[in-house]
This record gives sequence, C-alpha cells and structure tokens, in this order.
Amino acid sequence: MAETTTKKEETNGSVGTEEPTVKNEEKKKSWADEVEDDQDEATSSSAPAVTSQEEKSEPSEEVKEQLGELSLSEEPAPLNDPDDANIQAVTSGDTVYTSAVTFEELNLSEELLKGLYVEMGFSRPSKIQAVTLPMILTPPYKDLVAQAHNGSGKTTCFVLGMLSCVDPKKKIPQALCLCPTRELALQNRAVLQRMGKFTGITCMCAIPEESSSFVPIIKRPPVTDQVVIGTPGTIKKWLSTKKLVTRDIKILVFDEADHMLAEDGFKDDSERIIREIQRSSGGGCQVLLFSATFNELVKAFIPRVVRDANEIYVKKEELTLEKLKQYKVWCPDELAKIEVIRDRIFEFGQKVGQTIIFVRTRESTKMLQSALTKEGYECTAIQGALKQEDRDKIIQEFKDGFTKVLITTDLLARGFDQAQVNLVINYDLPIKYGTREPDCEVYLHRIGRAGRFGRKGAVFNLMSTEWDKKIMEKIENHFQHFIPEVPSWKNEEHFENALKEAGLL
Ligand SMILES: Nc1ncnc2c1ncn2[C@@H]1O[C@H](COP(=O)(O)OP(=O)(O)OP(=O)(O)O)[C@@H](O)[C@H]1O
Ligand SMILES: [Mg+2]
Repeated sequence: MAETTTKKEETNGSVGTEEPTVKNEEKKKSWADEVEDDQDEATSSSAPAVTSQEEKSEPSEEVKEQLGELSLSEEPAPLNDPDDANIQAVTSGDTVYTSAVTFEELNLSEELLKGLYVEMGFSRPSKIQAVTLPMILTPPYKDLVAQAHNGSGKTTCFVLGMLSCVDPKKKIPQALCLCPTRELALQNRAVLQRMGKFTGITCMCAIPEESSSFVPIIKRPPVTDQVVIGTPGTIKKWLSTKKLVTRDIKILVFDEADHMLAEDGFKDDSERIIREIQRSSGGGCQVLLFSATFNELVKAFIPRVVRDANEIYVKKEELTLEKLKQYKVWCPDELAKIEVIRDRIFEFGQKVGQTIIFVRTRESTKMLQSALTKEGYECTAIQGALKQEDRDKIIQEFKDGFTKVLITTDLLARGFDQAQVNLVINYDLPIKYGTREPDCEVYLHRIGRAGRFGRKGAVFNLMSTEWDKKIMEKIENHFQHFIPEVPSWKNEEHFENALKEAGLL
C-alpha cells in the first residue's frame, strides 16, 4: 500500500515518505508543482509572519572573510560564459587546485574526451567546469558546494565527476545523483549517457513509474548499473528494499541541492540518504552539492551534511544573467494578460525561438492552454497531475522542437535545459508556498530557462494586481536589479522594441 501512495505522489512532482500524514504535508509544500488551489489562500489570506531569507541573504562575515583568501593557483582564462566571471572559490585545506583551461588538463580518459568533443560538441570547459572539475577529480576528493549561474554547465561538472570515478568492470552502483523531479533525473541521465557514450558505463533512473509493464522494485534483481540517478522517494524505497547496494558508492551528487536540502523541499529524505551512504561506504564517499541558488538558511544547514568542503558561491546581486533582458508589463486584468501573450508577444516571439510560460497552478495551465489554442495558437501544457507518459511526450515534443510554446507550473522551473528557449513569460509571479512573499530563488530559476550558456533571451513578467507590483518590486530589490516596464500593454511597437533590445529581433 505504501508503495502505491508513494508512487502517486512522486508522479505529482513531489516525493512521498513512509507516514501517510507527513506525505500530504510534504506533497503540499513541494515547489515542484504542488502549489495548487491552496494558492488562492496565499493571495487572499492575511500575510503570515515573514521568516524568509531575503533580509538575511548577505554572506556572513566568515564567508566574506574566506572569499578574500582564494587559494586557486591561477585565475581561469576568460571563457565564453561571461556571466560566471565573478564566481569565487573557497578551498578547504592545503590542496592547491589549478583551474583547467582545456579538458585535456583534467586527466580525463580518452573515452570521456571523445564524449565531450565528439558527442557533446564542447570545445573547452566553462568557468564553473574549469574551477570545479580539478576539485572534484583531484585527491583527496573533498566534498564540494558549488553555486553557478543558470545555464552555465553545472551538469557537466557532476556528470564528469560520476563517470570518472566509476570502474566500468564492476557491475555495482558506484555513483548516485539525486534530483527534485523525474524530468530532471531523465534529463541528467540523457546527458550522462551521451557524455559517457564511449565508456561502456551504464545508468539507471530511480524514478516513479506507472506504465503497464512496470515491475515493482521488490520483484526485480538488485541494481547492477554503475550510475543511479533518481528522485528521493524512489531512491529511499530502493535503499530500504536493499535493491540499491551502496557499499561501493564513491560519489553522491545533489542537483538543485538547495531545494534538496530545504525544509520545504526534500531535507529529511536527503539527510537520511546521505547518512546511509556515508555509513555504508565507510565515510569514503564524496558529496557534491550543485545549484544556481543557495540562500542563507540552506547555507547554514550545509555543514551538517558535508564536512571540510570546498565551496564556490556567487553573490545574489550577480546571479541574474547579463544577456537576459527582463521586463514587467502592467495588465489591467487577466484577459489583458492573455491578450498581451497572444497579440503582442507571440506576434514576434514565435518567430524567434521557443517559449516557456510559467503559471502558478495546475488549473491555470489548462485554462491558459485552452484560451490560447482557441485562438489558433498552438501550445502544450505540462503539470504534475498528468500521466507520466503524457508528461514525457510533452517534454520530448518540446525538446525535439515540434512544439514551440510550453505552459508549465514550477515543475520545470529548475534545471530544464533547452538551448532554443529564448523567451520566458511569467503569467503568474512565483510566490513562496503559503505566504504572500515572492520566491526569489524560483524566479531566478524560472527565468534561467532562457539565455542558456550565454545565449540571448527575454523575460516578460505580467502584473495585474497591486500585490503583483509589490512582488516585482521585492524581486528587483532582492537581486538589486532594476526591471524596466513595457510602457503600454496595448502597444505592439513597445513589445517589438523590447524584443529588439533583447537582441531577439
Ligand atoms: N563546455 C561547454 N561548451 C559548450 N556548451 C556547454 C558546455 N557545458 C555545458 N554546455 C551546454 O550548456 C547548457 C546548459 O548546461 P546545464 O544544463 O548543465 O546548465 P546548469 O548550470 O545546470 O543550469 P541550471 O542551473 O539552469 O540547471 C547545456 O545545453 C549544455 O550542453
Ligand atoms: Mg542544472
């Protein structure tokens, strides 16, 4: 019974626990698509006490001090992702790391170099890759907390870390990666399989399944794939049924680590999994935490899960992507929002690439899709309550470029990588669950779906209430980044100018 319930919840983008009561709680709190009708409460109830981290997000004195003592032996060469020019590293202990200018300098195997050059088409490491890969691949293989901009190539850092530590001859799991959603787990596996194409290393996804051919883990043989990438609920189940053997796990990765360690994310599950793996591997497992955002609450918790770690952080004021032009648009009502998307933004936007539209609730995905398709604008919509096979199909069609506009809840706010996306529309602004406060981290991740790896992009934030205006203002203050307003929602030329300014027309 427990199995069925957990499966269902993970389907919704959240992860179950063993206690049914806790499960519902968890399900509600998840950023990934669980913000449903409850959001109405958030917009109508009186504001709860704000315990958010915005006021506290300056680095602590200790961190500031450490940032001054970089022990990287040389400055990485300038690379083609200027947005990461300001990442700063704090190395722990005496190990001196030289950041890599080429992939060759990393002592990667011939097979991995071939994967990077031939299969991925990469020519040189991005800044975050140049700085973190020596830390990940050099003994004593210290734990690492790494923050870098959205779209700057963090996946390659941990995928190379995992592929490099696997012995392809041993048919036992040696690397484990945890992700907040099944979509991200599948995407990360696809990257690993391409990058590792010439290594013979195999990878399995530990994600909920609901297909008719699905065989419960208890009836399956133990996992022999060398890399496992999955969501916390399924990983926990595989661990408790002893189907996922952890004694040879050498590297444990958390993608979107801040969410994986957040109270309203997967903190408890993540902590349990780390403890279990550290215990069974005799403490010899390297832990890597990657994300574009680490708020002060999460940062304060990190020492509990990693010790003596190398750290790389970016100041929040420097996190917005340079090449991404953000705008806000005042719309008098909801109908005007739809008109703006349809008759102004799409008028030009459809010519320039792919678009992601973020809404707050599942209901809104359906409402907006039907409003747009009724007028002849083709778009698809995804949210956690859809069947998994439908979710997979919608993602695949968008990745293949068959569909141009994708409406989504925050299910795809984090990690989703599609180079052709150069337009993001916030139909609803991101709000912290159960509050009237903006979710600045989610805002950053959402807009980071455009402008991947230094590409150009534009973001339109639609506001139709005074509260929306306040939310926008708070987001601007948080990142210390002024967002210009499109002067009139009715004027086509103003939108054309905005897109021209973003370099898209
Ligand atoms: N060295 C490189 N050269 C060229 N392209 C690269 C390189 N590294 C990564 N990329 C490409 O950059 C894009 C973004 O990479 P990735 O998804 O890893 O970003 P990310 O840092 O994880 O972003 P997010 O925080 O949004 O998850 C991908 O399409 C990837 O293929
Ligand atoms: Mg990522």
